[in-house]
Amino acid sequence: MASTLALLLSAVLAVLIDGGVGGHVVPRVTFPLDSPGRSFTLFTLPDVENTTTLLLSRDEGTLFVGARDAVLALGVSAGGGLQLGKKLDWSPTEGDIDGCVMKGKDRTDCQNYVRVLQALNSTHMFTCGTFGFSPKCSYMNSEEFSLVTGPGGKPEEGRGRCPYDPFQKNTAITVGGELYTATVADYRSTRPVISRHLSEGNRVDLKLDDNVGLLEEPTFISSTFIPSEEKVYFFFSEFGREYDFIDRFTVSRVAQVCTSDVGGERTLQKRWTTFTKAQLLCQAGGELPYNVLQDVTTLPPAAGASPDETLFYGIFSSQWSVNSGSSAVCVFSLGDVKAVFSGNYKVLNKSTLKWSSSVREKITNPGECGLHNASDNALRFVKENFLADKSVLPAGQAPALVSPNERYSNIVAQRVQGAGGREYTVLYLLTESGFLHKAVVLRSGAHIVEEIQVFKQPQLVQNLVLSVSKGAVLVGSSEGVVSVPVANCSYYWSCAECVLARDPFCGWDPTRLVCAQISSIERNAVQDVAEGKVPKECNSPPVNPRARSSIKNPTGIVLPVTLNEVVNLRCPSSSRLARLHWERPGGRLSPSVYIQQPDSSLGFLATPDTLGTYACLAEENGSTQTLAVYEVTRKVDVVQEPSTISTTTTIRIPHTTPPATTQTGASTATPEPREPRLVGISTVEGTTYEMMKDLSLSLVDREAEKQLPETRPSYLRELVAVSVLLALCFSVLLLMTLYNLRKSCRGWTASRSVTPGGATPQERQVLRQDSVKLEKENGPSNGAESPSAASGGAPNGSNGHLPNIST
Ligand SMILES: *[C@@H]1O[C@H](CO)[C@@H](O)[C@H](O)[C@H]1NC(C)=O
Ligand SMILES: *[C@@H]1O[C@H](CO)[C@@H](O)[C@H](O)[C@H]1NC(C)=O
Ligand SMILES: *[C@@H]1O[C@H](CO)[C@@H](O)[C@H](O)[C@H]1NC(C)=O
Ligand SMILES: *[C@@H]1O[C@H](CO)[C@@H](O)[C@H](O)[C@H]1NC(C)=O
Repeated sequence: MASTLALLLSAVLAVLIDGGVGGHVVPRVTFPLDSPGRSFTLFTLPDVENTTTLLLSRDEGTLFVGARDAVLALGVSAGGGLQLGKKLDWSPTEGDIDGCVMKGKDRTDCQNYVRVLQALNSTHMFTCGTFGFSPKCSYMNSEEFSLVTGPGGKPEEGRGRCPYDPFQKNTAITVGGELYTATVADYRSTRPVISRHLSEGNRVDLKLDDNVGLLEEPTFISSTFIPSEEKVYFFFSEFGREYDFIDRFTVSRVAQVCTSDVGGERTLQKRWTTFTKAQLLCQAGGELPYNVLQDVTTLPPAAGASPDETLFYGIFSSQWSVNSGSSAVCVFSLGDVKAVFSGNYKVLNKSTLKWSSSVREKITNPGECGLHNASDNALRFVKENFLADKSVLPAGQAPALVSPNERYSNIVAQRVQGAGGREYTVLYLLTESGFLHKAVVLRSGAHIVEEIQVFKQPQLVQNLVLSVSKGAVLVGSSEGVVSVPVANCSYYWSCAECVLARDPFCGWDPTRLVCAQISSIERNAVQDVAEGKVPKECNSPPVNPRARSSIKNPTGIVLPVTLNEVVNLRCPSSSRLARLHWERPGGRLSPSVYIQQPDSSLGFLATPDTLGTYACLAEENGSTQTLAVYEVTRKVDVVQEPSTISTTTTIRIPHTTPPATTQTGASTATPEPREPRLVGISTVEGTTYEMMKDLSLSLVDREAEKQLPETRPSYLRELVAVSVLLALCFSVLLLMTLYNLRKSCRGWTASRSVTPGGATPQERQVLRQDSVKLEKENGPSNGAESPSAASGGAPNGSNGHLPNIST
């Protein structure tokens, strides 16, 4: 019982705490699909589905797309336009498919899903596909866009390079014309292997030994080549057998091999001599780790910095249901990875299959390149010491970003020069629900500048690549390929908005009075990515045509109304971090007269008292801006001609109507918004504000409560908290009753004991109130079957658990 109470209490606390923080991971602006403020290119072909691999050419002018039964070359223009260049059809024959179907596979899964697409040299590429559960690979002439036979003159083996099953993950990378792959190498997807193919000159192809414990049911995620180390790093998750006290605990790993590896002479012949692996630990102190890797991207060091400052940004989710809906971004430095690999290694006890920290004398450094002519003794040591003892910890010992409500699937990162040459790291994160988040990583935590919906449906397989030179993020999925420009600075109409956005790409140009790309601003760009504090320069000239001066000197939109008409004033805010409220000069907005709707619009009845000036103010990050000013006047002309309304009054805001679900209890008395009366200034400049797809109700309401005691907010969050508290009190009462009854009449079962017989006056009060409610719903309960009759079936027929208040 005590534990139940504790649970309830913690639930209440969680509600309250969640209400207190959590603003940080909310994207500041949301662009639902087809928002004019953030348009993008969608490339589709009717017969091409399941984009499985994306590869950007070295000059970033061509995007190669591996899909189902096809390889495409798309031209990428500046800003991210996509045009079909070439298309190669690569399907299994009907016979191949029939054979696959005979083995019990689904016909669509028996198509050819292209899973390896890599450039070998300036003229050739290498590609592999699942080919109806019988993987095949081929050289490809990039110019003619045709499959060709390689130097061997024979068809290329797909096994060990490409999975059989299109739902199995794999990774591949070419370095110097050689192909490094990590995949499962059999029909049943039980034999994972990391290997090198197409080895140049007289070098032999290498693969992983069959040694126990090298790979434990891995899911391969990605791979990268680090030239300074001459190493290929593989990222994957697998079962962490070293944690044998937790059942099937997943761990994330980084593994490495040297590109100079040629295997051993006797020991480890045709096997890696340089394979080692280590755990990547993404955890905030004391919390459950985010242990399941989803994607990793490599961010090269800043110009002039040490290669050890190469960063790996990883997305992690959790294997536990408590935080299954959330994900974390952790960043690991190459320096830290190297330090872990040059430390001690764990050893596996062959008989007990248990890992322990090695205490043996180091014969050689596992993972060191150039062991090809090392002694058998050294190679035997290497063969057994491949799991680093220490884990790689994230920079700052904590995740760079934790998103409690979004599961991220893909990530790319970019260094961006902001105003004054300051450098920022921008992350593009794809959510499983089809949104692209753009976040800037700051010392104070991550700030999500915007989220853009790029797909209608959640997508199972997604790919993400970035073209820095074209300024576009390229996303592949079953629906097609989407190219999103990295920023749209002109969306921010004022200096304050431009600064508050904290977008490293954007700054306010004090000369042209526009928010523009930093690179296009000649001097004195106004920007504050780190803190988003709106500086004084922003207010000096009346630059914002929409925030017409101040409330004392209103020159806002004039809105003629007839008396007793319901007026609904819209507040065109786009920031989910802003707190919106309404003001009148001198007049307090009494909640009995004014209703601030969940979408922050202001509703009231036109009376002589309510005519006048209204301003909607947004407070964000310590600065307040006027978003809209209305002058509500009495219409002189009594005749209501619709044409007059549309010409003299107002411009309709093309907002999407907020979903009906946001109209919760408190706003049942809400007047019907009268569409022709909806006025706004957002269309004046031809620019649109998108109302949030789901304008964060809780945020607005909480603010309304704090900021606007004089308006009438809806206390949804509070309502939840209070209901939980009420439930808690009620259960305490029940418990007490129960306890009393136990004392007085043993033998009663708990389920029967809810009679107010032994109840205190307060309890009776509570119960009485309950019954009043019931009566309202069901009519007077003169012994009729009512939902609460169950509790009333007390054997002693005790005075009707449903005391009729009227008696
Ligand atoms: C950028 O935003 C402006 C203003 O909302 C809009 O007119 C323009 O179409 C947008 N551009 C893109 C590429 O989304
Ligand atoms: C291919 O895309 C379809 C949806 O268009 C999806 O149902 C299917 O699972 C995808 N197949 C693979 C192997 O990703
Ligand atoms: C690229 O590789 C292919 C296949 O190995 C080879 O035939 C071709 O000559 C190479 N081209 C160049 C320019 O090295
Ligand atoms: C290893 O082989 C290289 C030539 O491949 C040779 O130059 C070097 O001396 C050898 N090192 C040892 C320790 O035998």
